[in-house]
Amino acid sequence: MATGNPPEQTAARRSWTVLELLRWTTAHFAERGIESPRLDAECLLAHALGVSRMRLYLDFDKPIHEAERASFRELVRQRSTQRVPVSQLVGRREFWSLPLRVSRDVLTPRPETETLVAAALERMPRGDASAAAVLEVLDLGTGSGAIALALARERKDIRVTATDVSAAALSIAQQNAEELGMLDRITFAAGDAFAAVPGLRFDLIVSNPPYVDPAQRASLPPELAHEPECALFADDAGLGMLRRIARECAGWLQPGGVLALEHAADQAAAVAESLEAAGFTGLALHRDLSGNPRVTTARLPGAGSAALGG
Ligand SMILES: C[S@@+](CC[C@H](N)C(=O)[O-])C[C@H]1O[C@@H](n2cnc3c(N)ncnc32)[C@H](O)[C@@H]1O
Repeated sequence: MATGNPPEQTAARRSWTVLELLRWTTAHFAERGIESPRLDAECLLAHALGVSRMRLYLDFDKPIHEAERASFRELVRQRSTQRVPVSQLVGRREFWSLPLRVSRDVLTPRPETETLVAAALERMPRGDASAAAVLEVLDLGTGSGAIALALARERKDIRVTATDVSAAALSIAQQNAEELGMLDRITFAAGDAFAAVPGLRFDLIVSNPPYVDPAQRASLPPELAHEPECALFADDAGLGMLRRIARECAGWLQPGGVLALEHAADQAAAVAESLEAAGFTGLALHRDLSGNPRVTTARLPGAGSAALGG
């Protein structure tokens, strides 16, 4: 239970220290059913003070000035009453150790999606040092650019094309690429699925498409209401975009090329069925850190991209 009065009611009475504010806010968030109350309190207070979370631990006894407390109070209010995600309140989220800018226009990248990056890297062999070995990679539905940037950061021998149907999302992805000094490594293209890249062929296609069943809308965490609809929901009980990519992507993959798809744990069987129906072979299921089947990779028959792991 939150002990003492809320910080706003006691502003005139005495000053609050870092530790006191953290304790009060943690209890307040817990009462409101927020899943990670202490972590959220720390992230928001660090943001309001313009310091790292680590610094808070070194400054537990430091008093907080009124101006700082006022901006923290507003963050706490938005988190607890409107359930705005912490990532959007601080405008950042770390993914694959990259500090990414996020906003309401993009899905905040999730830890599960690092499984997709790892699976894609696993199916991409080390290129040979010669310039001819450059691999062409497509990140379909790039959002914040998380997957494209992580792959480009890991592999200097790939060229990445990142697409999205949302121009606002692409703009955030471009800002991230610029801030990370990778603007020259990634080509951005707007459009609906493969229409964004007409006539191109790729060695590897990676996608974390929208895959939430709209019928589940009422039971979703309130934080999801702050994320773009087109990043979350797909028709056909959430399988529409996954099935579409499986059906269409042969026309954009080199023979022997690899497709890596993120999906919900209970969609793995339907995704495998769609990939097999589209002629893919060598299907592999990759589990996330919680052990859930989260990513499927598969290979298009043919010899063209034989360099890619089968
Ligand atoms: C689940 S989010 C993934 C964002 C990012 N790749 C990530 O993993 O954090 C899906 C993304 O696909 C985009 N998208 C949805 N429908 C699309 C379509 N028909 N064509 C291209 N992109 C689409 C959305 O705008 C959103 O950015």
